[in-house]
Amino acid sequence: MSARLALALGLLLWATGARAEDGYELWLRYPQVSDAARLAQYRAAVTSISVAGDSPTARAARDELTRGLRGLLGTDVPVVRDGTRGALVIAGTPSNSPAIAALGLRAGLSRAGAEGYVIRTIGGPKGPQTRSAIVIAGNSDIGVLYGTFAFLRLLQTRQPIDALDIVEWPRLRHRILDHWDNLDGTVERGYAGSSLWNWDALPGVKAPRYTDYARANASLGINGTVLNNVNAKAASLTPEYIRKTAALAEVFRPYGIRVYLSARFSAPIEIGGLKTADPLAPEVRAWWARKADEIYAAIPDFGGFLVKANSEGQPGPQDYKRTHADGANMLAEALAAHGGIVMWRAFVYADQGEDRAKQAYGEFTPLDGTFRPNVLLQIKNGPIDFQPREPFSPLFGAMPQTPLVLELQITKEYLGFATHLVYVAPLYEEVLAADTHVRGTGPTVREVLRGAAGVANTGTSRNWCGAVFACANWHAFGRLAWNPSLPSSALADEWLRMTFTNDPAFVEPVKAMMLTSRQTAVDYMTPLGLTHLMARGHHYGPGPWVNDAGRADQNSVYFHRADAAGIGFDRTATGSNAVAQYAGPWRETFGRLDRVPEDYLLWFHHVPWDHRMASGRTLWNELTSRYCRGVEAVRGMRATWSSLAGKIDPERYEETRAFLGTQEQEARWWRDASVLYFQTFSKQPIAPDACGPPERTLEYYRSIK
Ligand code: GCU
Repeated sequence: MSARLALALGLLLWATGARAEDGYELWLRYPQVSDAARLAQYRAAVTSISVAGDSPTARAARDELTRGLRGLLGTDVPVVRDGTRGALVIAGTPSNSPAIAALGLRAGLSRAGAEGYVIRTIGGPKGPQTRSAIVIAGNSDIGVLYGTFAFLRLLQTRQPIDALDIVEWPRLRHRILDHWDNLDGTVERGYAGSSLWNWDALPGVKAPRYTDYARANASLGINGTVLNNVNAKAASLTPEYIRKTAALAEVFRPYGIRVYLSARFSAPIEIGGLKTADPLAPEVRAWWARKADEIYAAIPDFGGFLVKANSEGQPGPQDYKRTHADGANMLAEALAAHGGIVMWRAFVYADQGEDRAKQAYGEFTPLDGTFRPNVLLQIKNGPIDFQPREPFSPLFGAMPQTPLVLELQITKEYLGFATHLVYVAPLYEEVLAADTHVRGTGPTVREVLRGAAGVANTGTSRNWCGAVFACANWHAFGRLAWNPSLPSSALADEWLRMTFTNDPAFVEPVKAMMLTSRQTAVDYMTPLGLTHLMARGHHYGPGPWVNDAGRADQNSVYFHRADAAGIGFDRTATGSNAVAQYAGPWRETFGRLDRVPEDYLLWFHHVPWDHRMASGRTLWNELTSRYCRGVEAVRGMRATWSSLAGKIDPERYEETRAFLGTQEQEARWWRDASVLYFQTFSKQPIAPDACGPPERTLEYYRSIK
């Protein structure tokens, strides 16, 4: 569609008062079902609803059901008081609804547990009731709310609802968004505007957007939010900020979301007036205990602390020659009395010359078994830092006595920010499904987890995430935290249907594009196991030549190690021997040049330029062809998207069209800059390919700031 036509359509919508599709509604849009037969079925099945209970959570479930059904069915569905009489959708718990208690759902409800739900069609011509009804039952109001969203999702994705028999429960106990939001309103690595939290106006002003944030999270099953950046300011723990945090907690509570804070380890000095933050000093321990009491007095269901300690300049127990366990256990003790937890991050790497990929393992595995039970170790998916592709962190499987949280990045710090369309569910799936092989076969990463934390991509941008497609990653994270076995194809399908349309002519091609988009980004940024080649500091665009960071292990040249002989980081026994941190089968697979998957080749090996690849090409030719493959794939995405003009609203169509244009230019920039740079080592010509010769010189690309 031309820009002029899009504008005309936009004006028409405006003139007719129709709601603009600005992305704000996320996957909770509830437009009327357009397929007449489906609509008739749904209308017949759902003529009235009853949601038992009057807690804020029960009211949230009733409101969502009412709102969702009004939209989807295009008519107001009457709400009746509790009881089966007349109501065709009955929601509640055995304790607040005699009707549900009488239904004999015990087996299902016992599987559903504290937060899960049962959705079942009961009665019908052969049953005790003459008409069938749909029951949404939980053991708690929050289970009912989750079940309500799940029921609406069935309608949103046009599933049949005449014979439902669903029991669902969250596989992970902690399902948390980590906001890297600063108290001044900026967001570290945020590409969607400012922080959602208006600290200046809190606690007085509770913006309606906070409720919509909570609804969106609850619809996925997310049950926790860390409000402030891991690079924390002690001020977040002052009485003033505790009051502000308590106000947010009040808004989120009905939606099952607990608030957490990132705790600055040196807070006892900075806001407590103490001379030390030594975790073994009695006055420090007493300060944290009092601080915990103060927080819980204001927020009885406060979740606990997230801590980045002795990492990238943050203070921590090692400043006092104590261990991570000493630090974590001190905080855990303060929180334990109130039921809180400590999520202690394993993202550490000292500037000490040892392979950065090895350090967290070296630091934490000796501490396994020494943490208090309410300490969880929070580990990034890979050993370095949210790169387009990394092998799974060897800490998974190596800490059997410590509850673990997988940290994933939803915001795309290393994946083109908001403008590049990169769907990261396949990345999440790759790590979750990875077999640690510590017991021969198994456990997989998903099997050793107690929780998942996603570094949020939300902000004040009207569409929440800076790009409509970026919100697919928020959705995927939340759904996988609920059930880490959900396939990314199903998640993309569901998100597309709920966000745009159920029209297969749109869903199928866009889903295919989403599912390959992560590999595409790997191809044009860091193919074949290369890593951390982004420009320095902001991490946007190519910077394979970066060699001027303060510390060696933040330089691109440290990671790619290209020279006249070849390229890649030798992490085998002849190099850093990071492979030894993996269980036997992986040591063999990753460690041997003839076995390593090509996706991890240059992560683990320094490989000669003329090494023969599976394709029959030399490494050099394979590398350049991968870069071009990435560019070509983005061209394909643009073509796919253009063919879909008119299938969705002009606003969201246009945003994605424009961003894909930027992505193609930048994929090309990545490819041209990278192949020219690596050519200075390989000294070989770039084989003719669909991308043609680089457009500018290496000097030009190096000069871009
Ligand atoms: C990355 C990121 C930082 C962040 C850090 C962390 O290094 O660039 O901004 O603080 O990760 O996870 O702590």
